[in-house]
Amino acid sequence: FCKRLYYLSGEFDNKNVYSQLKDFLQKVDQDHTTHSNFFFYLATAPSFFGQIVEHLAEVGLMEEDNHHWRRVIIEKPFGHDVDSARLLNQQLLKVAKEKQIYRIDHYLGKETVQNILAFRFANGIFEPIWNRRYIDHVQISVAETVGVERRGSYYDQAGALRDMVPNHIMQLISLTSMEPPVSFHADAVRDEQGKILHAIQQWSSEEVLTKTVRGQYGPGMIDGQHLPGYREEEDVPRDSKTETFVAMKLQIDNWRWADVPFYLRTGKRLAAQNTHIVIQFRRAPFVLFRDTPVENLMPNQLVLHISPEEGISLQFAAKVPGPIMRLGAVDMNFEYADYFGVQPSTGYERLLHDCMIGDQTLFQRADMVEAGWCVVSPVLDVWKALPPRNFPNYAAGTWGPKEADELLERDGRHWRNFEK
Ligand code: BG6
Repeated sequence: FCKRLYYLSGEFDNKNVYSQLKDFLQKVDQDHTTHSNFFFYLATAPSFFGQIVEHLAEVGLMEEDNHHWRRVIIEKPFGHDVDSARLLNQQLLKVAKEKQIYRIDHYLGKETVQNILAFRFANGIFEPIWNRRYIDHVQISVAETVGVERRGSYYDQAGALRDMVPNHIMQLISLTSMEPPVSFHADAVRDEQGKILHAIQQWSSEEVLTKTVRGQYGPGMIDGQHLPGYREEEDVPRDSKTETFVAMKLQIDNWRWADVPFYLRTGKRLAAQNTHIVIQFRRAPFVLFRDTPVENLMPNQLVLHISPEEGISLQFAAKVPGPIMRLGAVDMNFEYADYFGVQPSTGYERLLHDCMIGDQTLFQRADMVEAGWCVVSPVLDVWKALPPRNFPNYAAGTWGPKEADELLERDGRHWRNFEK
């Protein structure tokens, strides 16, 4: 494998480099008979995405014919707001066709994320209750214990909202809530995902204030280890106002989901590393148990564990053995590790392979990226106009600012936290 790796260095804005690259690829092509099929994987600083593709096109490296293909993979962040995402799409679509552009989101490469579709649509028993009649609310948590590591300069410009919400979290929301696609053809799946993204209610400025929470971590402890606050991290300004935590309450305006809140949260340096989706069902009419001690009973919850635990669990009530009718919450558990004999893969290898075989199902289309940004745009505007005054507002190693708990408590609900 190493013998087939080559390296060509150059500046992205130097047009000659692209001609050199073209000659270079021709040679590689001859040596290895690669049929002139190339994909260009742009894991560069985002400000270069547009110009690199333009330069590739100028030297003819984006030209396809019936015998060979040319594709580009674009890493995130795809734009930093809705206008810049639109501009980037326009710039790319001037020189490439949509079917040549692969906007990567590594969450879609995770087996456990793809399993959401299998779980929902390959089983007859869940879909009939997957709607507002039976579901009380949905929680999506992407909790990380890591801080910003060595990415302070990127992260301080981006913040938790841009870094996680319009991309990864929007994927989790759309897969959880979309209608069944007519097939697993790329556009059939993406059409349905796109409809959800368009149906997410867009907020007024007042709503941003009541339906979103932001936070930044201060010093704290994780696993008995003292950790610095965000403002003490490498390449982060000492007075940074960048959020490292976000929580939100979203609504999807369609017949399936009207009035079912989708609560989401994500943050760095939280109490546990855990990505999961909780589907909480409506309570049973408990009058039947009015003379029994049932007040602590948890409602039915279906939990899709995305990482690091990989599996699905369903919580339901069972009678506690004994002479009186007492109920306790029990779990039915599926863990990937117990089945199939292989570990789920983490994403990139699957996505790079899909790009090679020309399957765009797990890549974001232009309209989806823009729709994701439209959801967060009002939040970006309000947060920019009203800089936070209470940062840092949560200690490293906790579940985020207390306002995130209050966001649910106001509605009589609670986050489900999974410790290690
Ligand atoms: C990246 C974000 O896209 O996803 C990071 O930029 C984040 O900040 C990471 O840590 C999370 O991915 P995973 O696969 O570890 O859940």
